[in-house]
Amino acid sequence: MEKNRVTLEKRGTFALVCVDNPPVNAISRDVRAGLITVLRQIAVDPDIAAIILYCAGRTFIAGADIAEFASMQPLAADIHELFDLIENCGRPVVAALHGTALGGGLELALVCNFRVALRSARIGLPEVRLGLLPGGGGTQRLPRLAGAKTALKIILTGVQVPADKALALGIIDEVVDGDLLEAAIAYTERVLSAGCTLRRASALSVNPDSVSADLFKQARQALAQRPNGNPAPARIITCVEAAVTQPFEQGMATEQRLFAECLRSPASAALRHRFFAEREVTKIPGLVVNLPLRPIQRVGVVGAGTMGGGIAMNFVNAGIPVVIVEASQAALDRGLSIVRKNYEATAAKGRITGEQIKQYMGRLSGSLDYADLADCDLVIEAVFEDMELKKRVCAQLSKICKPGAIIASNTSTLDVDVLAEAYGRSANVLGMHFFSPANVMRLLEVVRGAKTAPDVLATVVKLARTIGKVPVVSGMCHGFIGNRMAESYLRESERLLLEGATPQQVDAAVQSLGMPMGPFRMLDMAGVDVVAKVALEQGKNGLLPLDPCYQAVVLKLMELGRYGQKSGRGFYRYEGRTPMADPIVGKICTELASRHGIAYRDDISAQEIIERCFYPLINEAAKILEEGIAYRPGDIDVVWINGYGFPDYLGGPLFWADTLGLANIAARIDHYAVQLGNAYGYWHRAALLMRLADQGRGFSDLTADELNHAHG
Ligand code: 3HC
Ligand code: NAI
Repeated sequence: MEKNRVTLEKRGTFALVCVDNPPVNAISRDVRAGLITVLRQIAVDPDIAAIILYCAGRTFIAGADIAEFASMQPLAADIHELFDLIENCGRPVVAALHGTALGGGLELALVCNFRVALRSARIGLPEVRLGLLPGGGGTQRLPRLAGAKTALKIILTGVQVPADKALALGIIDEVVDGDLLEAAIAYTERVLSAGCTLRRASALSVNPDSVSADLFKQARQALAQRPNGNPAPARIITCVEAAVTQPFEQGMATEQRLFAECLRSPASAALRHRFFAEREVTKIPGLVVNLPLRPIQRVGVVGAGTMGGGIAMNFVNAGIPVVIVEASQAALDRGLSIVRKNYEATAAKGRITGEQIKQYMGRLSGSLDYADLADCDLVIEAVFEDMELKKRVCAQLSKICKPGAIIASNTSTLDVDVLAEAYGRSANVLGMHFFSPANVMRLLEVVRGAKTAPDVLATVVKLARTIGKVPVVSGMCHGFIGNRMAESYLRESERLLLEGATPQQVDAAVQSLGMPMGPFRMLDMAGVDVVAKVALEQGKNGLLPLDPCYQAVVLKLMELGRYGQKSGRGFYRYEGRTPMADPIVGKICTELASRHGIAYRDDISAQEIIERCFYPLINEAAKILEEGIAYRPGDIDVVWINGYGFPDYLGGPLFWADTLGLANIAARIDHYAVQLGNAYGYWHRAALLMRLADQGRGFSDLTADELNHAHG
């Protein structure tokens, strides 16, 4: 049933039209219908001299309703009917903007004759991030107002432009403070008394000074240098070029045609999946909505190493004071100076000011005394990956930390429940698995222990958002969601080397899928020694498969001191930071292969590499879902996009798997089980994968009930 999302109030001769469609006033079907009804009413009311269009709640219209795009083929005609009604209503229409006027919201504002914005407002056309282009005339009206070069930049990047800047660019007409509606009314009165005409962006032509001779050629060249699977950027360039070279109506037709192409593309479906999945991750099944959260006003970090310093920066940047506790003065000094250098490097790029560095460093203190953690609301330990050491640290914290303090471990492999026991008050303990560099990477795996209290989990998930992270909750298992899947990916890529593939060949195949870096460049960057030590530690705990080739190459390289980029040699040799093929690695692999009786092959194709690296990873993800380690397939996609650089235009490994068809993947897994033998169970299909494949369903078809069943 249609909901009334639009109200009309007559104040004197002004029609005040208000859109109220929480949470972000998306211009959904109901909103479009409401606006059309109201505008038709106004059209037959001769007393109305002007119209002011504004929104209730936290923001002006933040765009089309993205959920509707699943069925919109092409863009719904009523949006154009609405825009025509506004443009031809014969009275000045003023849009009053606050919050974020984005996408279809900004396009609607551009159809209006004038735009007034609160100083805090921001505008933008972020469609490109959804694999789309602005389909409501944005590619035609913005260049006419702001020039082709500026419009191209805004539309290609999807940035949010602050109101002051939008004013300077000619996109809006006035920036105001205080009461927006009153200011918009006053502005409209001035417009009327000045006898302003009904200025229309569509009637302007693009300022020729904003179109250099090679503007579009350069834009296309820049795109060709950074190819990715997003269909929108190339089409955006064509549309903006059309705004320059074609009359408005023809430019609109070009925009419509190319918008429809984008909307139909699998990449746009994948990017829209990412949009919703990244927002769904904070919804924790079974948790009471609006559970009171614990206040986090001061944070402690134990260990000022690679991770500790970066972790501290996140909170400091968000205005939360941090104390870092170290074991030695030298380590503390080193850690704090790296943090300072990081800020200085950011300032050198003009991204922060010297004054901000002072503020940030002022919020950060160092100490050698655990007693300084007594008043912290959250303490994150980031000491060496050593269970005994971490248990000692937790036991020490239990004597010092206040009763309600949350204790988090940044461990990448160890059992959070064992640490919780060492701390004593287990309900207050969980994992916060940051990714390196911790101040940059968006992903945060929040590891719920067996006894973690619901409000502790909810507090940390909310806090993650505050510090700009994308939190994904994981249950307890070795490697959590991300590294557990990465294990099968790395295992299989190594095995390909033993069969005769080269690191370059494997990396190139994986990169052709859109990964920023193949497995061997990644291992060299992370440190071959770091990965080898984890395998050795697992071996000591009896957690490794009986496979004698398991990580044989990594272990051999570590033995030879080939630690990767940091030692100048690993799977590659490095000239500066450039990886170069190193024939020694081939010899090492040949020797290991003959020792383990693995036959050489010269027929390994890029397709086989992709299947063998990614299908076991997808299979592992299915196990992660059936064990209830992850709440939803989308959560797994979010982990791999934000933590491992999986191409977002494929939507993450599980969205991609659905597009390939699970039955196909299952068949290929069976094929490799036969080809390679399955002595160690690497190619056993997950029960969930088998079930979905048999039913002809995908991961995205799993119902909430099926998923809830898995995590109890
Ligand atoms: N359509 C549908 N739902 C939307 C939406 C949209 N355009 N924008 C936000 N939402 C939903 C989110 O899914 C979320 O729902 P949930 O609470 O159920 O999880 C809720 O609104 C709040 O969103 P955020 O958590 O992102 O809230 P923030 O305050 O952090 O951010 C925002 C607000 C900046 C508006 C951000 O939501 C955003 O960037 N939205 C998308 C804007 C966009 O891409 N607009 C273009 C759409 S395409 C278009 O307009 C095509 C046109 O050219 C024809
Ligand atoms: P690191 O070796 O760089 O730093 C550890 C720091 O802990 C050192 O500065 C050391 O002096 C300090 N320390 C040791 N014992 C201490 C004690 N008793 N009290 C106070 N400080 C003490 O290690 P890194 O890389 O920062 O790793 C820390 C944790 O983060 C580990 O658990 C690791 O598994 C995890 N992690 C590491 C990632 C990485 O890429 N480096 C990624 C994700 C998690």
